[in-house]
Amino acid sequence: MRKYSTEKSKELYEEAKDYLLNGVASYFHKADNEEYPICFTHGSGSKMYDVDGNEYIDYTGAQGPMLLGYSPKEVYERIEDQLDRGSHFSATTPQLLELSKLLTEMIPCAEMVSYQNSGTEADMFAVRTARAYTGRIKIVKFESTYHGWSDELKVSVDTDDINDFGSRDNPDRYITTAGQRREASDDVIIVPFNDIDVIKKTFEKYPDEIAAVLMEPFICDSGPIPPQPGFLEEVISVAHEHHSIVIFDEVITGFRLSSGGAQKYFDVTPDMAVFAKAVTAGLPLAVIGGKKDIMNCGVISSGTFNANPVVVAAALGAISRYSGEGVYEKLQRIGDRLAAGLMEAGRKHGVPMFAKCYGGLVSWTVGMDRPPVDFRDWLENSDIDLYSKLYLGCRNYGVRLTERRGRVNLTTEHTPEDIERTIGVVDQVLSDIEKGVAL
Ligand SMILES: Cc1ncc(COP(=O)(O)O)c(C=O)c1O
Repeated sequence: MRKYSTEKSKELYEEAKDYLLNGVASYFHKADNEEYPICFTHGSGSKMYDVDGNEYIDYTGAQGPMLLGYSPKEVYERIEDQLDRGSHFSATTPQLLELSKLLTEMIPCAEMVSYQNSGTEADMFAVRTARAYTGRIKIVKFESTYHGWSDELKVSVDTDDINDFGSRDNPDRYITTAGQRREASDDVIIVPFNDIDVIKKTFEKYPDEIAAVLMEPFICDSGPIPPQPGFLEEVISVAHEHHSIVIFDEVITGFRLSSGGAQKYFDVTPDMAVFAKAVTAGLPLAVIGGKKDIMNCGVISSGTFNANPVVVAAALGAISRYSGEGVYEKLQRIGDRLAAGLMEAGRKHGVPMFAKCYGGLVSWTVGMDRPPVDFRDWLENSDIDLYSKLYLGCRNYGVRLTERRGRVNLTTEHTPEDIERTIGVVDQVLSDIEKGVAL
């Protein structure tokens, strides 16, 4: 197999560092173990193309949104049609009403919706709403889950050092970036995932103080870590017993696991949910949906670009595809084959692996032959170093994985040939690693 040369990407990064903070627009754009990030010119379907002319089969989905692949035609047609009529009014439109109705039909918990531009803002809005509705202040959040970069919520995430988390019985809040105010998260309680006893004890410790449990129903940003059977139902039941609400952060799982997100996939309805990323298949829009009495509790929604006509047009185009016949069945079919192939490659090279497809997401853990139970389990038992090597090795043979996390973002455009080539590349990289070939 031929290794790619990426010299132009390297040159552009060296130059960018003088003008652009860290040489990238978001820290996800460069993996920790990459000397420089690959610089891309365009994307089409399941592929991305770099400045050196290399083609990559892509599984990052641009951090998740591109469930319909790159440059999705139906979405672009709607965008172009809207651009002819104007890109931004900061006013309401008939299409906004159409989208809002559609979303309330598709997202089980959403009797009513509101909009922001990013998952970060939408999570902040959801937390504010929970506080307004319950008249309480504390928020329960799980270890390792990312809910955007606000001072309050970007805690106990983005570290591989188990000591940063404190003890399992009494987890600490880990602050992730310079300039972040620790006090901003004083009312956030951190708990391990998949442990209902800890949730029960937390509610007993803070009776009448917890406004909401904010959770990814399937932890995608680390691990990935699926919920154990019954866990989501139990969290909701305990929260309700204590007159608190549950918010599902479906920024990744929304439209990816199913047309109604993880809540439809697992048939568990929270009180509120946040959807973002895949809503538009490539433009910034975040949706907060929930029960009417919760949504309607007096929180003001502001934002110059909220649900501007172009992103609304994109969302209408994307959602019409998600509602089409056979979309999730196709994702499941190719994902099942990919998961089986990855595990076969692991077996061949004596590397334990767990891979399973959930709609548009393949959850892949290297170094373990079962899914992790929580983040500590993943940190202690998965082979993070080997996954990092796989990331780099696969990239150099033209397969773009997500950095470090094992979240494989499928698209409707991946072909059986893409999947077979990907399995072949993983096999090749594992064999290079065995032989000590430079990645
Ligand atoms: C689960 C989850 N919530 C919230 C966010 C923040 O979304 P955004 O990057 O749109 O601000 C992300 C981003 O990756 C996410 O994965």
